[in-house]
This record gives sequence, C-alpha cells and structure tokens, in this order.
Amino acid sequence: MAVPFILINLKSYTEGFGHNAQRIAQSAERIAYENDVRIGLAPGYMDIHPLHVHNSLPVFAQHIDGVTPGGAHTGHIVAEAVKAAGATGTLINHAERRLTLADIEASNRLARTAGLETVICTNNVATSGAAAFFNPDYIAIEPPPELIGSGISVSKADPEIIENSVAAVHSVNATVKVLTGAGITTGECVRTALDLGTDGVLLASGVVKAKDPEAVLRDLVSLI
Ligand code: G3P
Repeated sequence: MAVPFILINLKSYTEGFGHNAQRIAQSAERIAYENDVRIGLAPGYMDIHPLHVHNSLPVFAQHIDGVTPGGAHTGHIVAEAVKAAGATGTLINHAERRLTLADIEASNRLARTAGLETVICTNNVATSGAAAFFNPDYIAIEPPPELIGSGISVSKADPEIIENSVAAVHSVNATVKVLTGAGITTGECVRTALDLGTDGVLLASGVVKAKDPEAVLRDLVSLI
C-alpha cells in the first residue's frame, strides 16, 4: 500500500480560508512530518498560492475546468494556471461540484498533462469503476452524500460500498489509489477505511470546523 494520504478539503468554510487555512496547514505539516503520513489540503483558489509559498505540504484545487490553456475562457479554472499557482493536484467531480462524464475525462486529462495529481470523486461502485478508466491518481468514493458533514463515518455506515469500489477500481486499473470520505472524524474511522483496502481519506468538517484542528489531526493519524 502507498503511504496513507489524508486530504483535507477546506471547502468554502470561513474556518478554512485566509489565516485559518494557514493555521490548519501549519498543524497538518507538523503532524505529517512527525508521523510519516501524507497530508494535503484542498483550499479555495485564493489560498493555493499562499499555502504553497509558506508550507511544504501538497495543495490541491477543489475543481478545474476541462478547458485548454491559452484560449478565451473567461471565468474558467485552467489546470496550467492552478499548477503555476503552486498546486500539486486537483479534485475533480466533487459531490458539491458534479461534472458530466465528458467533463470528468477532459478535466482529468488536462490536469495530468499540466502535471497535476488527480482525485476523481465518485458516489457508487459503478462510477468508481468507470472513473478508473480515466487513469487518475486517486478515486475518492464518497457515498452517500447525506453522510457528508454528518459526523457519521462512511467507513462504518457503508463498508461494503468501499470494499466493492476498491475491487471495481482495481479490476479496471490496479495502479489507481482509492480514498474514501464523508463523515470521517477520528483515527478509528481512518483505520477502518485503510482496513477496507483504501489508501486514505478525503475529509472536511471534522478538521476544518473543529475547535482544535490540530488535536483532530493528531487523532486521525493515531492508528495508522
Ligand atoms: O470532500 C470531503 C467531503 O465531502 C466530506 O466532508 O465534512 O463529511 O468530512 P465531511
């Protein structure tokens, strides 16, 4: 298994931008270093460059558009521009930013061409298997959306969908790593996710909205 990856999506939470993003990044960097775990942040676009400049942890965009650079695409997010701002990778097709199949393919291809790692989010076994054909770095299975932000961990609520998604992904492409997310808040949730065959977790509110994000991060890595 690859080094476990904990990817924290800061979404648009006020607790997750500007100075707050910086504070979470500093804690994440400390804990990743002390525990030999890979921890990344997916901040809002405005925080990609400052987080890249002031920290060494991987920074992911929350979305990119499947448009080529150099064109007239007002208001679009171009993979090359995200890379130039210092991002390591990008989420694609998050549950809160769904795309068509064609858009997922184009975004993944253009991101990889730009040198970005890709995390395609999916919601069931079939979409996980389908996304594996696009050869992303990661597929993040987040079923079902009502668990998002609930504090009820997908790894406990629906372990079967995780195991079946891992199997579906690897039957198509064994090199794609799998993350899972929704309601992850503790080290026990992370341990269960890893035991179900994933390579890590994608989470948000458990860290971003915590009174003490560093304490939660410490707990998250405690059983790896
Ligand atoms: O991107 C992570 C996400 O959708 C899960 O959110 O708040 O349940 O960890 P949360």
